[in-house]
Amino acid sequence: MASVSLQNTINTTPSPTSNPLTITDLLNDAIVLINPTVKPPFSSIRKLFDHLRSNPNDASALNNAYPKRGIFKSAAIKNGLSDQKFTIDLSPTRDSLIPESIRSTLAPHGMEDILAFFNNTVDTHVSSILSSLSKIAGADFSPSHSKLNMNFRLCDYNPMTADPTSTNGCGEHTDYGTFSIIFQDGTPGLEVEAPYAPGTWVQIPGDATVVLAGWCALILSGGRVCAVRHRVRRIPGVRRLSAVLFVAPDLEVKLKPLREVGDVVFSKEIMEGGIDVEWFKDVMGKRWRWREGNLELAKGEDERVVQDEEIKKLIFGC
Ligand SMILES: [Fe+2]
Repeated sequence: MASVSLQNTINTTPSPTSNPLTITDLLNDAIVLINPTVKPPFSSIRKLFDHLRSNPNDASALNNAYPKRGIFKSAAIKNGLSDQKFTIDLSPTRDSLIPESIRSTLAPHGMEDILAFFNNTVDTHVSSILSSLSKIAGADFSPSHSKLNMNFRLCDYNPMTADPTSTNGCGEHTDYGTFSIIFQDGTPGLEVEAPYAPGTWVQIPGDATVVLAGWCALILSGGRVCAVRHRVRRIPGVRRLSAVLFVAPDLEVKLKPLREVGDVVFSKEIMEGGIDVEWFKDVMGKRWRWREGNLELAKGEDERVVQDEEIKKLIFGC
């Protein structure tokens, strides 16, 4: 994968204890910055969000194309405690479900540009990133990604939410899948936790395009690929847009190391292949929808459980 070095402009939020590590040390093995050949159409992304927010009928029609979860999510208009952002969640499956009439209504408002961008990004970057991860893992990731289980997400960290003063754009979490490519509109806000210095958050430049790995990559690689915790801090009054491509293993894949385990101890359930990707995505999805304000937890479910802590228990058994 074509990568570029981390810039010296990256800033860190120091942890309470003094930390002698350099920035390169802090993010070593955690993320890769790439020079994308396809530039995200941020003017189209802005236009589509603006259109859906000011045309509720079109937003409803789009959400009715995928009634299970909806496509345009705007819980932050009413909920000041959730992540303060709006999202548009697309995927090849959701794309195929959008009726032609809605597609043509939304085409002049940016939808076609956006779908073309994601499809170009898949063609250009996905197989080379999977190859790079396979090299790091010492095991071939391609058989477990033969169906390209992908999601496309647009995020609008818009100041016009229930709590305009909140700095919480997206709470800290680790992505569930294999890897994510995050495209940004030039506005800072994305932060990555240094894997070997927990509590130290590194600010990523707003114009960087970042590839980071998720839990599935960590498990399949036997612990050789690092799953990276990240978050987005909102600057009150400043709008920030991002586009993210998520790639995960095929849903029926058993989540167990593809080769002997490195320096990591996994739970018995993981080592015995007792968890498949579809089940794991469901468990993770429930937590992230709660964090984003799009899901109420059932009575008795503990809202204080932090997503990553619960998942760590499942993966590492402690
Ligand atoms: Fe994420």
